[in-house]
Amino acid sequence: MSYDVVILGGGAAGLMCAIEAGKRGRKTLVLDHASKIADKIRISGGGRCNFTNINSAPDKFLSQNPHFCTSALKRYTQNDFIDLVKSHGIPYHEKTLGQLFCDDSAQDIIDMLLAECAKAGVKVQNETPIESVRKNDDGSFTVITSRGNYDGLALVIATGGPSIPKMGSSTFAYEVANQFNINVIPPRAGLVPLVFDPIILTYTKELSGVSVDPVEVKSVSGKTFREALLFTHKGISGPAILQISSYWQIGEAITINLAPDVVAIDWLKQQKNTQPKSKLSVVLSYLLPKALGESIIAALKIEDGRIADQTDVTLKALAKRIGAWEVKPSGSEGYRTAEVTLGGIDTKELSSKTMESNTVPGLYFIGEAVDVTGHLGGYNFQWAWSSGWCAGQFV
Ligand code: FDA
Repeated sequence: MSYDVVILGGGAAGLMCAIEAGKRGRKTLVLDHASKIADKIRISGGGRCNFTNINSAPDKFLSQNPHFCTSALKRYTQNDFIDLVKSHGIPYHEKTLGQLFCDDSAQDIIDMLLAECAKAGVKVQNETPIESVRKNDDGSFTVITSRGNYDGLALVIATGGPSIPKMGSSTFAYEVANQFNINVIPPRAGLVPLVFDPIILTYTKELSGVSVDPVEVKSVSGKTFREALLFTHKGISGPAILQISSYWQIGEAITINLAPDVVAIDWLKQQKNTQPKSKLSVVLSYLLPKALGESIIAALKIEDGRIADQTDVTLKALAKRIGAWEVKPSGSEGYRTAEVTLGGIDTKELSSKTMESNTVPGLYFIGEAVDVTGHLGGYNFQWAWSSGWCAGQFV
């Protein structure tokens, strides 16, 4: 069972790499331990797969080495992938902020990738748990599995990161890196809901299910996102929070402007002038969801009386809570619900042109396994397509 290229992991990156290698006439095998290939594509984008973003550019990605992704993103762009989708007649639409989704089902993308694999003569084999890999004296690799051994002149690791373990994700890529003395940037959960300690939860827990759209959220490092926020029974989620979670470190606060379209203090003073007899909670309900306004009043221990009776000090405190709520999450929901894994194979160890290891010829790492992580909105699939495509030209 000898191949030119053995690819471990039949997700977005692995399948794209396989297609390109196969097109070049390389005898290519994809192995995956899961019972279904490309399961993350299947569930992505609420089942409609946000397969790329028309605004894809290097500034939408996090990495210890922010320039690493530039070359791959330029050589295989969002437009290249859109052309592929169009060539298969898959209907799609732009939802918001440049995010492209299938009209019908994420399965359309999986079917497209598998059809391209078949056309390129690629063999895709699932239900194959990998036991180990080894490099042979002649420079080739052997993959030892429960279903036999497979030899490859090139070995591509496309097994992703550990986010959502119940979907068959694993730390396999990091184990292979360790085996070959390749550095790994410590991984952590990204695009993940944040959780609060019990003290903060006393006044946010009953807001579970309440959303605020938009908010503006800012990290200590100064990164800001303007998208929706959703209160959960454990803390906060929604696109704005998933985005900022990738920039948030444990122990840090985030600052949330719950009403970014107004200057909170000016707005409150205006209300005091124009409707002095109105109850504070009623006034706040014009700006925020009613329950949120009430919980802010409770958290600040303000009497819910007429706005005319509120002192300047009280209005200032309210304005700060609305316009610059500084809150320290106690943690995140972790890999259990994280959409991606930050960190991974240190990009200093890889060629940005080929994705090949600088120290182990013939060994390649692509996709989420690598320390390149996109923002929410189709960017992570674009990285999978771009890095997979690049490796596919050289394996
Ligand atoms: P991916 O995880 O897709 O594939 C890895 C493959 O390797 C899997 O098939 C797995 O079974 C296999 N594997 C793992 N360990 C193995 C082992 N030890 N042996 C053999 N096989 C092994 N991104 C985006 O751009 N738009 C979106 O809409 C979404 N939506 C979304 C929803 C949810 C719920 C999640 C969890 C994630 C997303 N993402 C996303 C992120 C996106 O799914 C992710 O970035 C890509 O799938 C990464 O592609 P990879 O091919 O690198 O890994």
